[in-house]
Amino acid sequence: MAPALRVFLTSAEIQKRIGEMGASIAKDYPSGPLYLIGILRGSFMFLADLSRAIAVPTRIDFIGISSYGKDKSSSGQVKVTKDLDVSIEGCDVVVVEDIIDSGITLSYLLSLLEQRRPRSIRIAALLDKPDRRQRPVHVDYVGFEIPDKFVVGYGLDYAEDYRALRDICILEEG
Ligand code: PRP
Repeated sequence: MAPALRVFLTSAEIQKRIGEMGASIAKDYPSGPLYLIGILRGSFMFLADLSRAIAVPTRIDFIGISSYGKDKSSSGQVKVTKDLDVSIEGCDVVVVEDIIDSGITLSYLLSLLEQRRPRSIRIAALLDKPDRRQRPVHVDYVGFEIPDKFVVGYGLDYAEDYRALRDICILEEG
């Protein structure tokens, strides 16, 4: 049977929380500018909305990291598929991630970015699954802590499908 989708977080709930996250971030960096680094590809929608919710000047870049392929859990093999286009040396950086699961992607990425000597580096994640953590990661701005269910939509995929959904849905096997 085809997998079924059950709405878990509505678009309105997501947008309300992003507004709150943007206000917290702007408060912490009152003078800007702030580099928002989105992790491709899942974060593209969150980054677009978060950047508009932060009322201080921001700059944007993306880094491509992939570890999942077509599976539902991390392969543990992380690879950079697209590097940053800018130098972040001396900059205040917020890494923008759609979901933190095992923490493997982010712990790899943080060690990579720290070598580039930013002035500061923090993490904003829309979704956090703390029960799944294999590597400790400190997340500075969390949208929602969620249970260990496979979620899609609002940038998140399963085998590249469902990214364009406005809501975040639980993918239930039929
Ligand atoms: C997903 C997600 C995170 C990562 C989190 O990316 O966007 O980057 O997995 O999982 P982890 O904490 O277990 O490392 P994915 O590799 O599926 O690529 P995508 O963003 O292109 O969908």
